[in-house]
Amino acid sequence: MNFLKPEGPISREADRLWDITFLISVVVFFLVEGALVWILVKFREGAQRGEPKQVHGHTRFEILWTIIPVLLLVGVAYITVPVIFTQAREPEGALKVEVIGHQWWWEYKYDSGVVTANELHIPTDRPVLLELKSVDVIHSYWIPKLAGKQDVVPGRVNHLTIEATEPGTYLGQCAEYCGLSHANMRATAVAHEPADFDTWVQEQLADSANDPLAAEGRELFLNGKFADDQQCIACHAVKGTPAQGIVGPNLTHLGSRERFAGSMFERTDENLAAWLEDPPAQKPGSKMPDLDLTDEQITALVAYLQSLK
Ligand code: CUA
Repeated sequence: MNFLKPEGPISREADRLWDITFLISVVVFFLVEGALVWILVKFREGAQRGEPKQVHGHTRFEILWTIIPVLLLVGVAYITVPVIFTQAREPEGALKVEVIGHQWWWEYKYDSGVVTANELHIPTDRPVLLELKSVDVIHSYWIPKLAGKQDVVPGRVNHLTIEATEPGTYLGQCAEYCGLSHANMRATAVAHEPADFDTWVQEQLADSANDPLAAEGRELFLNGKFADDQQCIACHAVKGTPAQGIVGPNLTHLGSRERFAGSMFERTDENLAAWLEDPPAQKPGSKMPDLDLTDEQITALVAYLQSLK
């Protein structure tokens, strides 16, 4: 998550501006601090008798130290403001993705109909216009290597364009304090070559495989009632089944994702089992409650979830 190592044209442009303004700041820093140290030494007690010459209200100095910062700020504005406007504009040929912040995970919806969670998949060398929304509180979307950050505010739609040059996995983080598991609200962007991205979309559009070995877990997932009559399908959706919940992450292709629970955990049997055992113990404040599942139920559910390729 290093914004000083940009991996796309948008973040590269921001990095270029950062380099220039940082250089200006360094020069100003050394001039100001150098003058301060020089004055401290030259006018130290004992070096000179009596009060030094007073320059309060000196017109030439006042003009000088007003003009210099004004010129510097105008210079910085001259190079940065056009970039702000350019990047705020909707880019041509962009892929649009709806990004929805939840406490504490990210949901992604594509025009193609794909709905996924925690892992944003994008094609390389194509701008991706994110439409940022929130269902609860203010979050902030940030994939440092691909773009700057943008607030995600309930009741309004904010926009952010990101773009990756090379295929790869880029990590991010919710950058606005949003409650107990703010630190656990991670983001992952996976960039593919355009052809591979199209393949990913096709795979996501299909129903998940119906693995007979996971039949027991599937039955529990679709029809099981657990502590306080809670059901998996009240919150989660799996395309092609009666599960159509929208409160929690869509799990249709959970088995094709690297991580789960706000990108906190790798999708291993052990991690999924620990999660089902007691979600709030894994992610403090988790909206998914402890369902008092038995070990047998957990094993069956993990098998089913892992089969959702
Ligand atoms: Cu969402 Cu911090």
